[in-house]
Amino acid sequence: MEESLKKLQGKVAIITGGASGIGEATVHQFINHAARAVVIADVQDEKGQELAQSIGLERCVYMHCDVSEEDQIKTLVETTVKSYGQLDAMFCNAGIVNKSEQTILDLDLSQYEKLFSVNVGGTASSVKHAARAMVEGKVKGGSIICTASVAASVGTPLYTDYAMSKHAVLGLMRSASMQLGKYGIRVNSVSPGAVATPMVCGFSEMGVEEVERTYETTYYLNGVLKAKHIADAVVFLASHESEFVTGHNLVVDGGFQHP
Ligand SMILES: NC(=O)c1ccc[n+]([C@@H]2O[C@H](COP(=O)([O-])OP(=O)(O)OC[C@H]3O[C@@H](n4cnc5c(N)ncnc54)[C@H](O)[C@@H]3O)[C@@H](O)[C@H]2O)c1
Repeated sequence: MEESLKKLQGKVAIITGGASGIGEATVHQFINHAARAVVIADVQDEKGQELAQSIGLERCVYMHCDVSEEDQIKTLVETTVKSYGQLDAMFCNAGIVNKSEQTILDLDLSQYEKLFSVNVGGTASSVKHAARAMVEGKVKGGSIICTASVAASVGTPLYTDYAMSKHAVLGLMRSASMQLGKYGIRVNSVSPGAVATPMVCGFSEMGVEEVERTYETTYYLNGVLKAKHIADAVVFLASHESEFVTGHNLVVDGGFQHP
């Protein structure tokens, strides 16, 4: 393996929402970069298990974990540390979007609460239990990365609750990075532009090609934003290459402008 492909050599990582989309692409990139073990944490059991098996169970395993349930995250982290001896990197990536438009005039608060329990509560519990394990294990170079969004920094015409939840992820990341720096733990976020994952294809009711065509004209750069582009940014934030980067929101959007 080339030296440039060994950015995560020996590291143990958990990826929530790792069965699909951006999480799935990141699982592959962590393995490509020589991670010792990657634990996929998701609620899509079949997809997650198939992905782990396709990579090889000696380096990749699946664990069912609903991130909106704190005790499940605690068990996920404890099991990982018990199995592999440490936790070096946590990618808090699981997230959902509501199918209804959720404009402020029609905001459905029960759907808002469900979304917040995953996007905000789930991310906060993931950061909390990963950080505890890293502090207790005296891990050197621990890295926690959260998935925010381009919708974390601007208002959106639809999906008010989603934009609110991703703004909250930035507040969580920034506060946690201040509090955990003294332990040598870095906390950052990635903010993807629109990627044609099952989530985006689902709520837009478009296929991959149609989504990609729709957003292609909104980038400053030529080409299409793919899940791998986000995964590469996560590898950077998990690796030694970003050893003095913390509290940073790394936007990966090709210079996205709202259509
Ligand atoms: N695709 C985009 O354009 C885009 C843009 C900005 C941010 N994001 C964010 O990226 C992250 C990944 O989304 P994606 O686009 O890859 O979508 P995706 O639907 O392909 O993947 C999300 C994964 O999270 C899992 N998940 C959902 N609820 C869960 C729960 N309660 N517990 C554990 N796992 C759960 C799903 O099963 C799925 O495997 C999300 O946080 C999303 O908000 C996506």
